[in-house]
Amino acid sequence: MAQRGKFISFEGIDGAGKSTHIAFVQQYLASYDMQIVSTREPGGTPLGEALRQLLLHEKMHLETEALLMFAARREHIAQVIEPALTRGEWVISDRFTDASFAYQGGGRHLDLTKLSALEQWVHPHLQPDLTFLFDVPLAVARARLDATRALDKFEQEDADFFANTRAEYLRRAAEFPERFRVIDSTQSIETIQAQLQTHLRALAASTCQAE
Ligand code: TYD
Repeated sequence: MAQRGKFISFEGIDGAGKSTHIAFVQQYLASYDMQIVSTREPGGTPLGEALRQLLLHEKMHLETEALLMFAARREHIAQVIEPALTRGEWVISDRFTDASFAYQGGGRHLDLTKLSALEQWVHPHLQPDLTFLFDVPLAVARARLDATRALDKFEQEDADFFANTRAEYLRRAAEFPERFRVIDSTQSIETIQAQLQTHLRALAASTCQAE
């Protein structure tokens, strides 16, 4: 049986520069001939992508939003994440449950115990092996949002929402230091890439040692 793959999630407020760095990590791991599955939340499956359309564009009750995020996640874990990890592939996910804590919990003030209950229900035993949190001050993130396209429901939120979202991300990073790596996303792309490589090598080395 193949050794279980590693699960890496990428987080940060909108405009933190996540997409650029995910592309780098994909290409870096692929250059070592690693089998990777690159996916995203909400989304990652046909049903999840349909839910993403609703989540990013329709107004809904805060709890409906949280429940749909976790419904999409349940499908994503069953159809994509768990099968890939079992096959020994590495899963790179653009957001995972930390985003629900940050956006629905921090940004929208949903009771964190409700989110914990959903987390326990949907993935009691699964957590990312590594979570990169790209952290930037709000003003920097706002300036980076692509002004040439229509902003989705979350991107249209105000500064308070993003301040609270960022604060909850940082609180979780402090709570789970063993898996979080907070990356100062105001640094140059080259500096960030060097840091990402260091963390990825450490994760790969921990895999080899465990064999
Ligand atoms: P995002 O990941 O920023 O995609 P893109 O880079 O294509 O814009 O968009 C997903 C949005 O969904 C983002 O604003 C955060 C939000 N979100 C939540 O509010 N809760 C969640 O649990 C997840 C996974 C995402």
